[in-house]
Amino acid sequence: HAADAHRTDLMTITRYVLNEQSRHPESRGDFTILLNHIVLGCKFVCSAVNKACGSSKTHRSCRGDKCSGKLSTCVSIKGEEQKKLDVLSNEVFIKALVSSGRTCILVSEEDEEATIVEPSRRGRYCVVFDPLDGSSNIDCGVSIGTIFGIYMMKDDHEPNLDDVLQPGKNMLAAGYCMYGSSCTLVLSTGAGVNGFTLDPSLGEFILTHPDIKIPKKGKIYSVNEGNAKNWDGPTAKYVEKCKYPKDGSSAKSLRYIGSMVADVHRTLLYGGIFLYPADKKSPSGKLRVLYEVFPMSFLMEQAGGQAFTGKQRALDLVPKKIHERSPIFLGSYDDVEEIKALYAAEE
Ligand code: AHG
Ligand code: MN
Ligand code: MN
Ligand code: MN
Repeated sequence: HAADAHRTDLMTITRYVLNEQSRHPESRGDFTILLNHIVLGCKFVCSAVNKACGSSKTHRSCRGDKCSGKLSTCVSIKGEEQKKLDVLSNEVFIKALVSSGRTCILVSEEDEEATIVEPSRRGRYCVVFDPLDGSSNIDCGVSIGTIFGIYMMKDDHEPNLDDVLQPGKNMLAAGYCMYGSSCTLVLSTGAGVNGFTLDPSLGEFILTHPDIKIPKKGKIYSVNEGNAKNWDGPTAKYVEKCKYPKDGSSAKSLRYIGSMVADVHRTLLYGGIFLYPADKKSPSGKLRVLYEVFPMSFLMEQAGGQAFTGKQRALDLVPKKIHERSPIFLGSYDDVEEIKALYAAEE
């Protein structure tokens, strides 16, 4: 029985990546070590998210008087000052990545400046990440996540911003971890996409979604429609088509969580399209190129979908600043093809 074999022959994320690396005899396990440190960060955030107190003011993990009853302000580690969950997550990832000894430059959504790793702890990987994505959903217990992308330095020069200001297609790997009803880590090292679910009793991510492929066309669109009055023509036309299709097809359903990780995860598994377009108020959209747009676009392409900025393939973008933003349309191949046609017609 295949299912039985699976239950006893556990494919952990470490085992999976080691297997993959063994196809490259020159690799020395550095990537596996790096990934293990990212996984540690994800496990920490997962446990912090689950431990935090929600609405109960008498929860054991809160220090009585300081508990506001709000999850984002309530996570404490023995004796330490209470920190907001996003600040705490950032610290955990920075420390885990630096201590891996495999990184040289880190870019986090939470830090204005990039972190250049001190020479004694340097390795060749550059990591860009959003330690806690979906922050508006923290306090109500809705899914949030961590997003990451990994580049490799070409030689051992002094690390600088140009090492991360590279098009997304140069990424070596990308992924996200979703802290939802279960904790799911989705990863691509450039040879397809795989999903791993944390088994809390083992403390291990186990391969549960091998070789994820996004449906060629979907029935769901996902966008913050509250911004509709400021949209440009093609975006407005596309969403209109989703609701009132003129070709006899049925209307799409709308699903929007407001956590990119959760919205993209659903899009990847069920198909459809996720949009964070430009609008009159935010001419570059909202989402950040390096640690939101690129990793998710990398995963989409690896799963057989597409990612488009309104002008070009998202992974061809060359960012000039580490916190640069871009509009993004990503998801099922055919659905993205439609929005591409609308933008092409505009020109
Ligand atoms: P973050 O919590 O890291 O700042 O990112 C929030 C992002 C992203 O998760 C989501 O897709 C988007 O903000 C939602 O924005 P709107 O509230 O404007 O829809
Ligand atoms: Mn984010
Ligand atoms: Mn964030
Ligand atoms: Mn933020």
